[in-house]
Parts: sequence; structure tokens; C-alpha cells
Amino acid sequence: MNPLLTIDGLTAGYGALAVLHGIAFSIDPGQTTVLLGANGAGKTTTLRAICGMTWRRGRIVFDGRDLAASRTEKIAGAGIAHVPQGRGTFSDFSVEENLALGAYLRNDKASIQEDIQRWYELFPRLAERRSQAAGSLSGGEQQMLAIARALMSRPRLLLLDEPSLGLAPLVTKELFACLSRLREELALTMLIVEQNANLALEFADQCHVLERGRLVTSGRAADMRANDEVRRAYLGY
Ligand SMILES: Nc1ncnc2c1ncn2[C@@H]1O[C@H](COP(=O)(O)OP(=O)(O)O)[C@@H](O)[C@H]1O
Ligand SMILES: [Mg+2]
Repeated sequence: MNPLLTIDGLTAGYGALAVLHGIAFSIDPGQTTVLLGANGAGKTTTLRAICGMTWRRGRIVFDGRDLAASRTEKIAGAGIAHVPQGRGTFSDFSVEENLALGAYLRNDKASIQEDIQRWYELFPRLAERRSQAAGSLSGGEQQMLAIARALMSRPRLLLLDEPSLGLAPLVTKELFACLSRLREELALTMLIVEQNANLALEFADQCHVLERGRLVTSGRAADMRANDEVRRAYLGY
């Protein structure tokens, strides 16, 4: 099986600053990979680099195509969707308008409606609030909306940046239950940055640990839970 995404020798940053220094990993189709690391390690920058939102050098091969020189819109069109840290929904627009905006690269009107109904089934709270402004939703609902909106582009790879940030434990649990269902139903491949390492390692197949822009540990998520360093630094026991 060929990996869906391969990153090799990826160096990326902002202006004169290099944040990532030659990182490499790959993700197989259907797999979930979690990136762990302290604040400022470069997790968000990794997701942004994949999406073409930073300068970058190295290879970013998605589905056999090197996207390292491609622009954000082309990368989205190739099948990579990004749910940024802080969610980035349009707060003045309604839930339904936000979902429709997520399909801006598509022109198949009928199936866009079908997809919206499908995400309403998965996230019933969005259905109840379809006419409400996104800004009036709770944090958990906004995160669900951000994910559902990302899915409107029918991605094959979903990048999630700290989806549980600021959410209560129960809401976080509900969110991850939805993500599990998504993964099963769509065979969606995910790359997720998550500060709740316990939850993330339970959810993911593979794990990479970033330190100051370099990958220092990589392996199966299940094995990482037994790794002393990972336990001390990220699991707190
Ligand atoms: N837009 C930006 N311009 C300049 N430096 C940035 C920008 N965004 C992040 N950085 C710097 O890049 C480093 C890594 O940031 P980030 O990828 O956001 O880390 P993480 O998500 O792991 O907390 C930090 O030192 C941060 O200050
Ligand atoms: Mg971040």
C-alpha cells in the first residue's frame, strides 16, 4: 500500500525564521496520525506547511503528487482539508451558510445538499441550529461546524489543529466519538494535533513527537503510551 501522504526533508517557516528543520513522516490511507509537542514546537506550522500557508522546502507528496510548490487552493482541491486552531468559522454567517461555503470548490449543487444533510445526521446539534449564526454556538458546536465545513470539500485527508482546545471533557469526548464515526464511515485519513495526549494516543494509530521543529520520537500510538519520555512529558504520570 502506498502512503497517502509522504513528507520528506520538510523545512518551513515564516520570513527569515525556519520553524521546521527537515521533518519526515508518512501516513497510510485510513490511518490517523497524531503530532505531539510542547507549545511552539512547530505542530501548527507543520499543518500550515502542508496546506501551503508558509514557505517550505522538501517534499510533500499527496496521492502521488508533489504539492510542495502548490498553492493553498490547489492543495485543497487535491483533497486536503484543514481545520485550523481556533476553528475559523464565519461567525456572522449561519451554520448552513458556513457549510455551503465549505463546498466553494464544488459545483455539484444536488450532492452539496445531500452532504449537508449527511453532516446534520452526524452532528444533530448543527441541524437544530442550522439558521443560527455560527458565532452564537458553543465551543463544541463551533468545532463540529468547523469539521463539518471541512468535510464539505470531500477531502481524503483531514488536518485537525487542537480540536479539543477550550472544550469541557464531556464535550471533547463527544467530539472524538463523532470523529471515530467519521473515520469508520468515510475511511478518512487524519493528521491531528492534540494537547490531550491521552485521548489522542487512544484515538490515533501513529504518533510523532516534535521538539523545536524536529521529530524526536515516532511510532505506533499504542507503543507511545508505554514510552517513559512520552509518558512523563505528555501524559503526566
Ligand atoms: N505567523 C508567524 N510568524 C512568525 N513566527 C511564527 C508564526 N507562527 C508561529 N511562529 C513561530 O513558530 C514557532 C512554532 O509555532 P507553532 O507551529 O504555532 O507551534 P505549536 O503549534 O507547536 O505550538 C513558534 O516559535 C512561533 O512563535
Ligand atoms: Mg499550535
